[in-house]
Amino acid sequence: MSSALHIWHPFTHAALDPAPIRVQRAEGVYLYTADGRKIIDTISSWWVNLHGHANPRIAAAIAEQTRKLEHVILAGFSHEAAEELAERLRKWAPEEMTHLFFSDDGSTAVEVALKLAVQYFKNQSRPEKREIVALARGYHGDTAGAMSVSDESPFTQPFQSMRFPVHRVHSAYCYRCPLGLTRESCHIECVQQLEGLLEDRGSQIATVIVEPLLQGAGGMIVHPVEFLQKVRALCTKHDVLLIADEVLTGFGRTGKMFACDLANVTPDLMCLSKGITGGFLAMGVTLCSDRVESAFRSEDRRHTFYHGHSYTGNALACAAANASLRIFEDEPVFDRIATIAKIHAERLGQMRGMHQVGDTRQIGTVAALELVAEDAGYLSSLRPKLYGFFLERGVLLRPLGNVVYVLPPYVIEPDELHRVYDVIVEAIETLL
Ligand SMILES: Cc1ncc(COP(=O)(O)O)c(C=O)c1O
Repeated sequence: MSSALHIWHPFTHAALDPAPIRVQRAEGVYLYTADGRKIIDTISSWWVNLHGHANPRIAAAIAEQTRKLEHVILAGFSHEAAEELAERLRKWAPEEMTHLFFSDDGSTAVEVALKLAVQYFKNQSRPEKREIVALARGYHGDTAGAMSVSDESPFTQPFQSMRFPVHRVHSAYCYRCPLGLTRESCHIECVQQLEGLLEDRGSQIATVIVEPLLQGAGGMIVHPVEFLQKVRALCTKHDVLLIADEVLTGFGRTGKMFACDLANVTPDLMCLSKGITGGFLAMGVTLCSDRVESAFRSEDRRHTFYHGHSYTGNALACAAANASLRIFEDEPVFDRIATIAKIHAERLGQMRGMHQVGDTRQIGTVAALELVAEDAGYLSSLRPKLYGFFLERGVLLRPLGNVVYVLPPYVIEPDELHRVYDVIVEAIETLL
């Protein structure tokens, strides 16, 4: 027999990056490797894990579901696990969100939101209102539509021809303010670019998509809440739908269940994924308001939302999501989150004075250090050095170029988190 196929690893250069590490099992915050190492997963395995690896409650819920129903087509059918999830999300989602559309991951949740926004106006005989606005430094996924609303980056560069045009406006990146202002004295002038655009072209614009309060892959950029509030107000004024991409920020990451809760903002559409199943199975969900859904309820069959994926509403993923939400309901998850946030604040505060640290940012359980680098950006030469240094010390951190961030599962213990920071300090002192 010929040898096995080669696994093509994501975001990995086969010749330049180290060989992938084989993980045999994982538990809590630790990955156990085939070569006998124990690695602490402080990026929650690409930001998905909430309650620890191999969480027994989620594992048991999935196992139980496999014995009842693994999957059924969701067009024309429904099932108990999906309905239970709709009920559980009701408790946490903004009151104005009335409908839930399933998909497969964060990117597809974004595709669904964009398509719903465009068809919303089309169904109301306003097809001219179809343009899309997105933020500088935004990241919304790797499928074609999600890539189009994401800002230009090394990720999108080869695919310029596949990206549809969108209006790009400033985000609130205070450390590198696009207007050269400082947060202490500014009045969120960065939002004026969006304001001008909506005044000029509001009648053609369908939607504005944002990562609320935290732009993740763009460099863990934390926005002032006022920025999001002003975006919301402008969208309302110009009858433009606001999409909150909470794929990263959802499920407690920012200290509240959703980032929008922190800013007291209600979007028209909301994208969820990553933490929704506690990190066990892939699932995307797009929530929308009654106002949005009502445009699809006419007598005209052409007003149907013709979109769906084979595994839409998968019963095992729904069971995992239900178990994860039950953990939110009856374990002190928000106390764990508060403990992480406190340690982040304390340790970032101590590192702020280091000359190698340009900026520190934090929102809830997410902390970031933007290190001073001549080649700042995702392809910074610092990145591979830092990544290797951390791994040699048993810590999984995947810097975004010169930005080191810590985004742990909520079950990390204080002494474990402190150790991660000790390794970061050692890396900065050794490598920079
Ligand atoms: C804000 C945001 N939106 C969308 C996505 C895409 O999610 P997925 O990788 O599950 O397709 C990501 C992934 O990192 C994200 O951070």
